[in-house]
Formats: sequence, structure tokens, C-alpha cells
Amino acid sequence: MTARAPLRSSRLALAAGSLSALIALPMCDSEGARAPASDEAGLTYWEHIKPIIDARCATCHVDGGIGPFPLESYEDVAELLPVIGFVVSSRQMPPWQPSHEGKPLLGDMSLSDDEIARITTWVDQGGPEGDPADEGPPQPRASADLSRVDATLTMAEPFTPTLAPDEYRCFVLDWSFSTTKYVTGHRVNPGNTSIVHHAVGFIVAPELADRVLAFDAADPGPGYGCFGGPTPEKEDQLPASFAVSWAPGNFGLDRPAGTGIAVRPGSLFVLQVHYNLDHPTDPSPDLTTVDLSLADDVATRAFTLPWFDFTWYFQPEQMMIPAGESRVTHGYEATLAGSGGVTALAEGETFSEGVLLHAALPHMHTFGERITISVTRANGSRETLLEIPKWDFHWQREYVFAEPQVINPGDKLAVACEWDNSDRAQPFVDGERQSPRDLTWGEGTADEMCIAMIYVTPR
Ligand code: HEC
Repeated sequence: MTARAPLRSSRLALAAGSLSALIALPMCDSEGARAPASDEAGLTYWEHIKPIIDARCATCHVDGGIGPFPLESYEDVAELLPVIGFVVSSRQMPPWQPSHEGKPLLGDMSLSDDEIARITTWVDQGGPEGDPADEGPPQPRASADLSRVDATLTMAEPFTPTLAPDEYRCFVLDWSFSTTKYVTGHRVNPGNTSIVHHAVGFIVAPELADRVLAFDAADPGPGYGCFGGPTPEKEDQLPASFAVSWAPGNFGLDRPAGTGIAVRPGSLFVLQVHYNLDHPTDPSPDLTTVDLSLADDVATRAFTLPWFDFTWYFQPEQMMIPAGESRVTHGYEATLAGSGGVTALAEGETFSEGVLLHAALPHMHTFGERITISVTRANGSRETLLEIPKWDFHWQREYVFAEPQVINPGDKLAVACEWDNSDRAQPFVDGERQSPRDLTWGEGTADEMCIAMIYVTPR
């Protein structure tokens, strides 16, 4: 059967948008370079394509999921055939940002070149359905999960976002333990998956708890508006240790055995949820919960450190991104011992033998184009650890290395960022393209950042 069913117009404006992009951009456009065509003949949905789509697409593209339409049946897939060919060959979907320049990562949901070739060849062949009796064996999904739940933290009451398209809200979740606990694993369970875009959990030290409670009290309704960290926009950022994160398509995570993040009694657990009301505009409330595995002690205490240049924080114009310029770069490179400001947050730990780097969460704001985390060894050789060549603010997450990366005391760990502040990068407000203005380091949506939150253990 050759199915090229017309797009049901009620379905989605989004796919229609891509269709016009498709017409404007021929499929062999250099941007969306096509993978080499597979020479496989006789590909069918049931035998060859469904197992890939189930494992790599239907994690989000299910009824009520974050994907704007389901890809659960042959009909769902068949009616979007050309768009699917385009988003797959341009690697726009699945939304997995890191390139293969960096080290292997857990939960990598990107498609292999072979899978891309298979899908695009099948699309070119008209997307034949085949016989359900030939259904191929299921493929494993990319995600890891949390293996044990010791505590579940819950938002005190449901919240319904009202700001479109994006609302960032922080919720103080009850942390009632009277002794120090170590967070050894986590899983965020978004309540309303059609609006929760991503979520990050921070630990705020007891000494700063009053500040956060004041933010909460000052903002009516459940939680308070916040941006970047657990701090309202335009307030001075509070140092907080980032502990858990969630982005669509991932579940939970066990931290490497014997490691965990210390949480002292009296600390606050602040959950920041990014709601996106693009599609659908779903007024139903969200009640997100966080499952944690906890330990009373761990063999090696882990730290989440913000890796960035502290002078940017104190002198924001040191990270100037001039109006109208593209390809503006700033970076920070230091040894662990030389990164005074950053390691000062490690509560006395000096990392004199170096660290194992287990995971990193790169962070820029909306003008970011590229971010790279790398290490320069004492002998001068350089290794890319993680590279996001096309930064997308909407798809931020923590990336966990398949193997921990050794950072020796003499190695320089670097974070490098590139921004586009040219005319064409400016956002539209009420249908009008804004004029570029100088950007510097700052906490607001209209400022920029260049930072890597790293999860490390001392060696
Ligand atoms: C992690 C969640 C996730 C996964 C996995 C995922 N998608 Fe998506 N997809 C989305 C979201 C969310 C959107 C809406 C656009 C956006 O926010 O980028 C989208 C949009 C799309 C679109 C419309 C694109 C446009 O620009 O209008 C297509 C087509 C699509 N996805 C196909 C796929 C296919 C095929 C796969 C698997 C190979 C896949 N998606 C995997 C979440 C996902």
C-alpha cells in the first residue's frame, strides 16, 4: 500500500509549518544533509520502521505526551510521511542535542546513520505498511531509570500555568529529614506531560532558606516565578546545588554507586518547572512529583559545581555580546585548583587528586548557538567531552557520561560558548522583530549565561 494521506488540517499547525519549510528547503539542502540512502528494498512499517518509532519517537509522541501528535499507529505515521523524512534526516528529531564529537552518553536517543537511512528510504518508497504479522522485535528504549525509591517529594498543590508560551515556576517541596541525607538517584514524574517541558531540582542550603521562603511568600499562588536558578528574575542569583533534572524522553537515574549529593537538615528542595503552552493550550493543572533514592552515608560525596568564570558574575560586561554581531564567543578554562570561585562552593573539598566527572548540564539562554565542554591535558592534548553544536534553549538537560571522565589536577577543564546576536536572531514581540541590543551575563530571560553544572566526585 502506498499511503500519502493528506495532512489532516485539524491536526497541527506545526507540521504544516515544517511542510512549508520542506517546500522551501529541498530535502538535500546542505543544512539538513541527508544520510546516505539505504539500499534496502522491501522495507515495511511493521517489520522495519515501527520498532524504531516505538523506541525513539513514541516515548514523546503518544496521546497526551509532550510530542504535539501521536506516532502510535501506521495511520499516524503515514499521514506525516514527508515531514518525518525531513525531521529525521535533518536530525531535528528525536531532539537530542549533543554531537558525536564528545564522549559516549547514557540515554542517547539519537538515531544511528543506518536508522536514518532506513527511515528515509522507506519514506522515499512511499511508506509501505506491510503485514502486522511481520512486526519486528521491539528495540530497547534509550532511557535508564531509578532502581529504588526512598522518598517522594510532591508539589504542595496543583499549579496551572497561565503565561504563554513559557512559564518558569519554582516550588518549594517539603524536605523534612532531621539528619543529613545523600541523594543517590532521582526520577521526576511530570504531572501533566503535555505542558511540562523540563524540570530541574535545586538544594538550597539552610543558611539561605529564608530568602527562598520570602520569594515564595511574595508571589501569590502556588510557588513563585523564577528563572535560571531558584531565584526570581532580576534578583541576585542564590548559590544552590543543582540535584535532579528531567527532560522529555528520560526517566530516572541512579547516580554512580557509592556517590550522592549531601543535603543537610533545614535545606530546601526547590523544583523549577518550565511549562510550555504552545501545544496544546491545555488548561488542566500540573502536579509534579520527585522520587529520590537516599542514603545516610556514601563512600564518596559528590558535588554539583557551576563551571564558569566568576568575573562574569561580578562584572557582567566582561561577557559582552555586542548588538548585531554573530559568532560571538566567550569561554572559561581552568585547573580545579585554579578555579577558586567555583570550587569555593565545594564546602572545603579541594579536589587535590583531581575529580571524576560523571555528568554535565550545559546552560545558556536563548541567543546561544553552541556550547562545548572540553579538557586540555597537562601534555597539551585536548579532548571534547560534550558538544552541542546547535544549542536549543528548549531542550536542556543533564548529560551523563557512559564512563566517568578523569580530570587530573593539572588538566584544564573548559566551557566555551558561542552566541548569535545578529538581526536575524532576534525574537518577535507582537509580530515585530526586535532590534538587537548588547547582551551580558545576567539572570533574566533577556540576558545570557555560559555555564556547565558538573556532577563530580573527588578522586
Ligand atoms: C523527547 C521527546 C520527543 C521525541 C523522542 C521525539 N519527538 Fe518529535 N517532537 C517533540 C516535540 C515537543 C515537538 C514539537 C516541536 C518542538 O517543541 O520542538 C516535536 C515535533 C515533531 C514534528 C513536527 C516538527 C515541526 O517542526 O513541526 C515531527 C514530524 C516529529 N516531531 C517527529 C518525530 C519523530 C519521527 C521522532 C522519532 C524519530 C520524534 N519526533 C521523536 C518531542 C519529541
